[in-house]
Formats: sequence, structure tokens, C-alpha cells
Amino acid sequence: MKILVTGGAGYIGSHTVKLLGERGYEILVYDNLSTGNEWAVLYGKLVKADLSDKETVRKVIREFRPDAVIHFAAYIVVPESVREPLKYYRNNVVNTLNLLEAMMEEGVNNFVFSSSAAVYGIPEKVPVDEEAPLNPINPYGETKATVERILRDFDRAMDNFRYVSLRYFNVAGADPDKKIGFAYPDPTHLIIRAVKTAIGEYKTLYIYGTDYPTRDGTCIRDYIHVVDLAEAHLLAVNYLAEGGKSIVLNCGYGRGYSVLEVIDTAKRVTGVDFDVKEAPRREGDPPELVAKAEKIKRVLGWKPVYDDLEFIIKTAWEWEKEYIKRMGEDFTSPLPLGEESSQKGNKGQQ
Ligand code: UFG
Repeated sequence: MKILVTGGAGYIGSHTVKLLGERGYEILVYDNLSTGNEWAVLYGKLVKADLSDKETVRKVIREFRPDAVIHFAAYIVVPESVREPLKYYRNNVVNTLNLLEAMMEEGVNNFVFSSSAAVYGIPEKVPVDEEAPLNPINPYGETKATVERILRDFDRAMDNFRYVSLRYFNVAGADPDKKIGFAYPDPTHLIIRAVKTAIGEYKTLYIYGTDYPTRDGTCIRDYIHVVDLAEAHLLAVNYLAEGGKSIVLNCGYGRGYSVLEVIDTAKRVTGVDFDVKEAPRREGDPPELVAKAEKIKRVLGWKPVYDDLEFIIKTAWEWEKEYIKRMGEDFTSPLPLGEESSQKGNKGQQ
């Protein structure tokens, strides 16, 4: 099967490309490298282009003729979306329309979309199921909800078009082979900040709010390992290929950990008693966000294998050490690790 992956050089995209490549899928990555890294694309060819460039999008689709498109490319920083909504609507909504239009024009009908638990805002019921109302509380979440509505309308209007919208909860961890991982400057995510504090990149880890109505006063999240999430994309592509109908699915494990629990685990896993301080609440944080996660298991047959906070943090930690090591080396080549540069993938062959 041939898969076009937008944003395939980014964090979740590159893990999905690796998994697809290992399973023998033919891949073409479309990425403007604004936040992604060329070296993270371990399989398939990379087209360096922007989705605002409609002609290139269409040409790439016409020539590659994918069986499905997985669309990761988007901006994802919530506070930035509050400051710069235009940037978010333009990239996350308008550019998605460009991609969808090019797919329609070229007769490509299967679409897997990176949505987010941010579409729920502050849910009334937790665990939150897919039927809960879309009620985002920031522009980032609005852009994801808007695309979901567009997809729903396209599905209604067109017989052949079908999509799977995957609503990610808190994605974390890294490739256990340590070839790829989170590699984006100034991350805001808790687990990345914790391992970066453990390694000494930050002096202190701040806890944003300790007065939430939760078991220990800190926010609760459903952390999902990035490789389990990558597997969900692969299953989604297969589901569409087998004629599955359009569907929206939560991607989480269905259980939550508090910020304090994550910090305790991070200290244990890293063996570093890093500095932690309490800080005021961060704007727009729901107290508790946990997925109702049955539907994806039922519909896609998804069987997560890394549902283990310790393992999630361990892989994030191992990757962080590897990343720092590689930063001192030539980090621009596709696979900068000495012995692994013999290339397991098909990169460069296409
Ligand atoms: N947190 C801290 N200190 C930090 C970083 C985070 O206490 O240094 C806290 C946050 O306040 C929050 C929890 O840890 O309570 C998790 O925060 P993250 O930034 O790791 O993740 P979010 O839950 O805010 O965001 C994630 C995705 C977003 C998505 C959102 C849906 O990263 O893309 O879930 O609500 F929009």
C-alpha cells in the first residue's frame, strides 16, 4: 500500500513512518521541515514543501498516487495559537483544505487525520467518549474541531471519501530503538520537560497548579506511548483500505496520572532527584483529561503494548540522552548513528 504522510518528519509522524516502513508500506513524506527533521524520516522519500503550495501538493499526489493520506502536518502549541490564531487557522485549516482538494481532484479518497483531545475543551464527563460535544477552549483546539466538521461534511457529500479522525490524548515516549524521538526546541510537554530537567537542560520543573479538584491537586492526563499511537495510524489505514466507514476515535489508554505521579516516576526512572517547584495554574488546562478508549480497540482491533508510564518515561529519557549525544555530532545526516548508518530503510532508493 502507498501512503502519503504529511508532517512525516515530525514527532508522531516520524514514528508512524518508521512503523509503516518496517511493515513494508511504500511511503512518501511531505513536510516543510518547519518543526520536523530530515534525519527523522527513516523510510521513503521526503518532499520538502509546504501545504500552502497547492500546485506541488497536487503534483505529488498525481505522481505518487497514494492509497491513503495520513495528515500530521499542523502547528500544535496551544499558547502560541492563542497569540497567533491566524497562523493556526491558515496552516491547520486552510492548508488541510488544500490537501483535501488535491486529493479530491486526483481521486484519492482515504484520509487519516491527526485530531486532538483538545477538541473536548473541559469535558463534562471523564473518561470522555467520542460522543461528547466539541467544545475547544483555545484556537489550536478550534482548528482541529473545524477540520473534523469539514471531514464530516465531506463524508456526507461524497460517496467515496472516507476518513478516520484520531483524537490524541497526551502523546509521550520515544522509539525504543532510539533512532527517533521528540526533537523540537523549547517543548512545553510535561514528560519532555521532566527528562530535560533531569538531564540538566532546565534547572527546575514547575508544577502548574496544585489546587485542582483532583486526588493530589495536580492535573490528570492520559499518557499514550507514541509507538502505540503510530500503530493506531497503521490500523486506521488498513481499516479504510478494507472499506471501513468514516469514524472518530479517541487515542488514549483510558487511565490518568497526575502531574505529581509523573514527576515521581520520572525521578525514579532517571535516578535524578531534580528540582521541582510549585507555580500558578497554566491558562486553559482542564483538571482531568482521560479517554474512554474502548471504541478504537473494538473498531480497529488496536492492542496497545506500552501502557506503562514507567516505560513511556524510560524511552523519553533514553532518547533524550541519545539526542544530546547526537547534537554534538553531525545532526543533519539522515541516520547519524555510526553502525546504523548502513540504512535499514528504503530511504534514498526512491
Ligand atoms: N505541566 C506542568 N509543568 C510543565 C509542563 C506541563 O505542570 O512543565 C502540566 C500541565 O499544566 C498539564 C499537564 O502537565 O496539567 C500536561 O501538560 P502537557 O503540556 O504535557 O500537555 P497538555 O495536556 O497541556 O496538552 C496535550 C497536548 C495538546 C493538546 C492537549 C489537549 O500536548 O496538543 O493535550 O488538552 F491540545
